[in-house]
Amino acid sequence: MQTTLKQRMALMARRIALLDAMVIAVLLLGMATTSAIAAKKQAPTPAAAPADSAQLFEPIRSVIQSPRCVNCHVADGVPRQFDDSRPHAQNVHGGADGKGVTGLACSTCHYTQNPAAASGPHAPPGAPNWHLAPIEMVWYDVGARDICLRLRDPRHNGGRDPAALVHHFADDPLVGWGWQPGGARSLPPLTRPQTVAAVQAWIAADMPCPLQ
Ligand code: HEC
Ligand code: HEC
Repeated sequence: MQTTLKQRMALMARRIALLDAMVIAVLLLGMATTSAIAAKKQAPTPAAAPADSAQLFEPIRSVIQSPRCVNCHVADGVPRQFDDSRPHAQNVHGGADGKGVTGLACSTCHYTQNPAAASGPHAPPGAPNWHLAPIEMVWYDVGARDICLRLRDPRHNGGRDPAALVHHFADDPLVGWGWQPGGARSLPPLTRPQTVAAVQAWIAADMPCPLQ
């Protein structure tokens, strides 16, 4: 009999302890919520913080400096190949207009679309008007700030205002090749729609550039 009573009392004590714990938990939760609301009211709008807006260019940079894009955006007239951006085989050079030299134009090998898969993974890929980007649009081996400043400047981006820039990312067939490169070629880190969204977000914030 006595043991049972002791057991019951112990059980009750435990229940009371549990109840106490629950009350404390509910109180703590209430306090946390209240302070969270207070913090929310005081927090500055993220868009206003310069550190954050400088980050807006990074997703764009990660795409345009990926091999599928950077291999045509070079300074020395030598197209690059593969993921390690090694100089193009056969001593290919862009020449004065980026379209190749006499006797060895890009269009000798690169057609307006990718070859059929049956041609193998190393057949020359293709897209309309295949040629090197002009020198003012060099992205290979260039810092993010430099790329950003030129990309937003119509004197260096082919005379494009922000709307034309978005259009180029979204609709240009040569740019589009980067996301349909054929063979076993790797893709840029973001999809085309994700890249366009990143460009739009950057433009909406007034095209901020990173500090270096
Ligand atoms: C003699 C033929 C030939 C000529 C001329 C030529 N290419 Fe190529 N190019 C190729 C072949 C073949 C490949 C595919 C290499 C592979 O993937 O194995 C290629 C691949 C490329 C790539 C893809 C690189 C990558 O991996 O993302 C670029 C960019 C490129 N060429 C640019 C040019 C440009 C610009 C010109 C003209 C200035 C040009 N090529 C002229 C044969 C040629
Ligand atoms: C086969 C070569 C080639 C490849 C690959 C290529 N580009 Fe270009 N890019 C060009 C040429 C040529 C121009 C100049 C065209 C013009 O101004 O009308 C250019 C211009 C641009 C411009 C214009 C603005 C500026 O200041 O540079 C953008 C944006 C661009 N490319 C984005 C890309 C992206 C993104 C990729 C990869 C997904 C890419 N390109 C891959 C050849 C290439």
